[in-house]
Amino acid sequence: MPHVGEKQPASQPASQPGSQPVSQPVSLGTVTLTVNGEVHELIVEPQWTLQYVLHDKLGLIGTKEFCGEGACGACTVIMEGRPVLSCMMLAIECDGKSIETIEGIARANHPLIEAYIKHSCMQCGFCTPGFVVTAKALLDRNPDPSVEEIKEAMVGNLCRCGTYPAHLRAIEEAAAILRGVLVAQGGEGRD
Ligand code: FES
Ligand code: FES
Repeated sequence: MPHVGEKQPASQPASQPGSQPVSQPVSLGTVTLTVNGEVHELIVEPQWTLQYVLHDKLGLIGTKEFCGEGACGACTVIMEGRPVLSCMMLAIECDGKSIETIEGIARANHPLIEAYIKHSCMQCGFCTPGFVVTAKALLDRNPDPSVEEIKEAMVGNLCRCGTYPAHLRAIEEAAAILRGVLVAQGGEGRD
């Protein structure tokens, strides 16, 4: 089940690398992707998903694939400011797009990273990049989300380890830090 809200699957399901092409074949081609601010020109096969290209071709292994069918959120990246499920996007459809992955978010030292560590939001950690990317997209468009708004934004991210309450605390804390009403590194609120 794709995310409710802004996450949208591709117009047609993406087959896995190595499988038969989709019903409307697209020629092998070159795509230009701007990923975490770096421009990449890549030759892609028509059935390659965006997740496959990011993870296997660009080495951005934080973009995980678990279900591969739009049901878990592990593969979430931000494309043109919106969270998308990269397992449901064909790379060849993403030409010219700007993409942000967990690596870019971590490199920018976003407060979510520290908050996720502080609040122990991960057990096995497999789902964690997808959660952080989705949360980052939420805070980009809504710097002061309510608990209900956080739950709604995160509804498509699944965690088999049951870490959900910790995510709420971490996202609220990161939002407060970004708004300047809480000092980073566990500092006390100023109001
Ligand atoms: S939603 Fe893409 S791997 Fe599960
Ligand atoms: S921490 Fe293990 S699946 Fe979420």
